[in-house]
Amino acid sequence: MDFLVFLGPPGSGKGTQAQILAQESPKVCHVSTGQILRDEISSGSEFGKILESYVSNGQLITDQMMFKILETALSRMTNFSTILLDGVPRTLYQADLLDDYLKKTGSSLKKVVYFDIGDDILVERLSGRYSCASCGASYHKVSKKPVIEGQCDSCKSTVFEQRRDDTMEVVQKRLAVYHEQTQPLVDYYIEHGLLVKIDATESVESVSDAVNFYLK
Ligand code: AP5
Ligand code: MG
Repeated sequence: MDFLVFLGPPGSGKGTQAQILAQESPKVCHVSTGQILRDEISSGSEFGKILESYVSNGQLITDQMMFKILETALSRMTNFSTILLDGVPRTLYQADLLDDYLKKTGSSLKKVVYFDIGDDILVERLSGRYSCASCGASYHKVSKKPVIEGQCDSCKSTVFEQRRDDTMEVVQKRLAVYHEQTQPLVDYYIEHGLLVKIDATESVESVSDAVNFYLK
């Protein structure tokens, strides 16, 4: 199996672009670790309560927990030729764990797409973000409204929600955590010859064109 990684700060557009790519390419499976964690939290399980104590504070869950969850999720994804990782790896140790997983499964990491963007724009993007409560499709109050106002483009649901970690206080923490723990991965993947950098400040359509240029 081939793997792709979308790497970038909170709000840089990883999820938006991963959804577009997976819709355009049925063989690509979008794996968002943040979404997997949010689903577990919503289930109300005891494990979900532990996860929530990290996620709601903008902290990363432990590398060991993350990889146990990820490997379980990946073991169910057998019908795809490409796995698109959105939100993982997020620490240098997770990058090592991913390398081990790739070796173990005879898979290879083809590219790491880095979404390059400054913190000032990210705060505006995250505070305007909302999503369909039914299918999870992502929208923005200004830049990405549904075609018919109040109705999800994908599943036609009229119920929307906002993420609980998109408050100003938690967003600031998530950005600090990103710079401290995740940004070092940019140099790591440059050294491995895998990183392509895209300008994530452009429109959704332009960023999508850039992603396609590098990946197709
Ligand atoms: P996760 O869900 O991965 O969140 P994140 O990395 O903080 O990133 P976001 O999902 O907030 O942003 P995005 O880049 O996907 O942007 P989006 O496309 O939505 O993780 C959440 C939490 O889970 C973490 O804080 C941590 O606690 C935990 N976690 C997850 N993975 C982990 C791991 N590996 N290890 C440990 N813990 C982990 O876009 C944002 C908004 O901008 C949207 O409204 C969108 O419509 C809009 N937008 C997108 N592109 C554009 C554009 N080009 N122009 C204008 N607006 C745009
Ligand atoms: Mg996301």
